Amino acid sequence: MRWTLLLLTLLSLTLLCAFAAADPRSHYMIHCMGCHLNDGRGLPPEVPAFDNKLAILAASDKGREYLVTVPGASQSLIDDAALAGVLNWILATYTEEPVYQPFLESEISRYRYTPLANPARLRDELLGAAD
Ligand code: HEC
Repeated sequence: MRWTLLLLTLLSLTLLCAFAAADPRSHYMIHCMGCHLNDGRGLPPEVPAFDNKLAILAASDKGREYLVTVPGASQSLIDDAALAGVLNWILATYTEEPVYQPFLESEISRYRYTPLANPARLRDELLGAAD
């Protein structure tokens, strides 16, 4: 009886962890929040605040590639599907405009493995005077 109870407890804990890990917000808390902070305000200018500029960036192919290839995102220890989920969660949470084109796993895979040499310069180019 005691063993059954222990096994059931372990099983429910495992299931709980699996669900928690699949949730984009949990991924954000574990893999991104250390630098971007719990409310996305980051530490400008080094770590930009998550705000409506994300919507501008997500509206162009080059901008979307940038959002996927910034080192914090591309080198995180989550798979492509999970990274798509976190980026969509970030966009939905921190932009005012609805994002019509969510990231798909295939788009993450296409961009993620091409290293980005100078994120700050590319960001300036993409946003122009918006920053
Ligand atoms: C070690 C610190 C660190 C961690 C952890 C981190 N980032 Fe970042 N992030 C940065 C920095 C610094 C920048 C600015 C671009 C650059 O220099 O890499 C940035 C920029 C970004 C941007 C572009 C924002 C903009 O307005 O230009 C996105 C999107 C992003 N990160 C997503 C993520 C995601 C998703 C995770 C977690 C999976 C994550 N980051 C984890 C440091 C981090």
